[in-house]
Amino acid sequence: MSDIENEVQELRRRIEYHNRKYYVDAEPEISDFDYDKLFSRLKKIEAQHPELLSPDSPTQKVGGEPIEGFEQVEHDVPMLSLDNSYNLDDLREFDKRVRKGLAKSENIEYAAEIKIDGVSVSLLYRGGLLVRGATRGNGAVGDNITANVRTIASVPLRLNGNFAPDVEIEVRGEVFIPRREFEKLNEMREAEGLQLFANPRNATAGSLKLLDPKTTAQRPLDVFLYWLHAPAHIMPDTHIEAITLIREYGLKTEPNTALFNNMDDLLEHIKTWETKRSELPYENDGIVIKVNSYAQQRALGMTSHHPRFAVAFKFPPEQKPTKVLSIEVQVGRTGKLTPVANLEPVLLAGTTVKRSTLHNEDEVKRLGIMVGDTVIVRKAGEIIPQVVEVLKDKRNGSETPFEFPENCPVCGTRVVRPEGEAVTRCPNPWCDAQVRERLIHFASRQAMDILKMGPSLVNQLIDRGHIKDVADLYSLDKETLAGLERMGDKSARNVMLSLEKSREMPLDRLLFALGIRHVGSRTATLLADAFGSLDAIAAATQEQLSNVSDIGPKVAGSIIEFFAQPRTAEVIAKLRAAGLKMDAEKKTSDTGTLNGKIFVITGALSRPRDEIKRSIEAAGGRVTSSVSKKTDYLVCGRDPGSKRDKADRLGVSVISEEELAALMIQEPSQIEFSFD
Ligand code: IVH
Repeated sequence: MSDIENEVQELRRRIEYHNRKYYVDAEPEISDFDYDKLFSRLKKIEAQHPELLSPDSPTQKVGGEPIEGFEQVEHDVPMLSLDNSYNLDDLREFDKRVRKGLAKSENIEYAAEIKIDGVSVSLLYRGGLLVRGATRGNGAVGDNITANVRTIASVPLRLNGNFAPDVEIEVRGEVFIPRREFEKLNEMREAEGLQLFANPRNATAGSLKLLDPKTTAQRPLDVFLYWLHAPAHIMPDTHIEAITLIREYGLKTEPNTALFNNMDDLLEHIKTWETKRSELPYENDGIVIKVNSYAQQRALGMTSHHPRFAVAFKFPPEQKPTKVLSIEVQVGRTGKLTPVANLEPVLLAGTTVKRSTLHNEDEVKRLGIMVGDTVIVRKAGEIIPQVVEVLKDKRNGSETPFEFPENCPVCGTRVVRPEGEAVTRCPNPWCDAQVRERLIHFASRQAMDILKMGPSLVNQLIDRGHIKDVADLYSLDKETLAGLERMGDKSARNVMLSLEKSREMPLDRLLFALGIRHVGSRTATLLADAFGSLDAIAAATQEQLSNVSDIGPKVAGSIIEFFAQPRTAEVIAKLRAAGLKMDAEKKTSDTGTLNGKIFVITGALSRPRDEIKRSIEAAGGRVTSSVSKKTDYLVCGRDPGSKRDKADRLGVSVISEEELAALMIQEPSQIEFSFD
């Protein structure tokens, strides 16, 4: 081996060691500075000697190229879930069943582990190298998420120890995002105008299912392993020994695992953790109890769904009493009024809770909540905790009733609550609160992607009178921006640049950015494709809109309502003047043989309808869901329904699949049909 190869191997060995010390053992031995020195040395050599690069090098954890989709992975041993129990008596029953299933004389030990509320994964190491990461999926088949799993700091690309090249070791465990990191992640997303994750579990699942591993690498994922499957000569005799072995491999295990030989101590342990659970830096929702001996596990076996040797005791959701300091009513982007209780801060499930949503008027009535009340708040998976109960016997007469407002608390317009709906709305689209929220939405990454245009900047711009609507963003100048709080020359320049870039956004993004009620990004794409320009959408009738497949009367009505407002036309005129794209990019349809033709599909066909629809669209045609006078062709399969009759009545051409295929390859004018 050359000197340089030796150095690379030595560097990798040392970096792997220090990774383990830092990420797995939380006992770093060297300073970040010294670690960075090792790391950059290795990177430099690998850059100079690409032939020495290897996928298991610690430099390869930053995330590789994006992938198209996830391949399926079959689990050799199915990934089962556990039977749940919610009270301690259930656990005594579990113990009885276990004892019944084993010989009387046997001594039984139970391992108790904190049940992490994350996402279960399987990691496969071959010859000590990480070769596959997979989700649980349906237990039998999951997704191959190797590219993402490789980016998790505490997942080593190589196990500690020596392994024959074909030895396969599978470990399973729970990926999670620690509480503190989760809060930071959401704070960052809020500042960037991105949608917040509801809880660490959702954030974890989302991060593992990203198609771009570089984004996953940015997420603070961590993992605890609790299951081992290895060749017989490696497998120990007990679960606890397996946990030790997993640790020796350099993988993380939950540190509070304990072993018991009687039920009473085990139940005490559970009660203790029920009160201490919120002190753990990660979300947990119970205690998993497993028979420790593998021989006994095998003897007990499985039911069709669950192992008989293990059970999950689930903690009840955490709840605590606190005081209602005030109740305010917030107005959202679509004018929705949401009552929110400001609470005396209380530590709940590891985070400080200061507010709680009261949802709507009916919920306020149901709870009978007053300002000054003592209430029970509960956190069960959502970011904003719920008020579950008002402790009315704690009242001392100083409480003040809360009346749901009749006028919008922001603009004073009389609020409306349609018959039979739970939501109360401010009907004034130019209500300050709605304008602010719309601006934030307009600038958000999924919409026009304007940097930094989150709540702080938008509020300053509105409060100082620089902007009144989304179109005013395009008349901002660098000096104005640079003069705002927490902005400098550089930030101002970046905002200007991204404003500039946003003028090039395609029509569907602009349409989504306008924040029309019920028009999400998918609907926006459908509309842009179907009508081709903002003017055409604005001029469309309810019927024409509803003719676009997947657009129902509710969505169509909301679009009509939006464009009927006088200020909308004004804003659109300003956006047009600012040079934004008002027309859809011409797709292949320009030269498509079905250009501009409107199709309806009915009856049983040889291919799925969606597929036929896509090929029509690819050739420039449009597919709508119902037959009207505007329909050019009804593509008709076997057993057509009423659409066929309607087409006949309206004199719409009815064609077969073969005739459609012919249409696609020839100019429509050159082809003759026999219409029956
Ligand atoms: S054991 C056959 N141990 O809880 C063994 N699961 O339904 C199956 N979980 O899907 C799992 N912590 O996602 C086990 N220490 C632990 C666990 C644990 C969390 C999750 C896991 C599983 C679910 C149980």
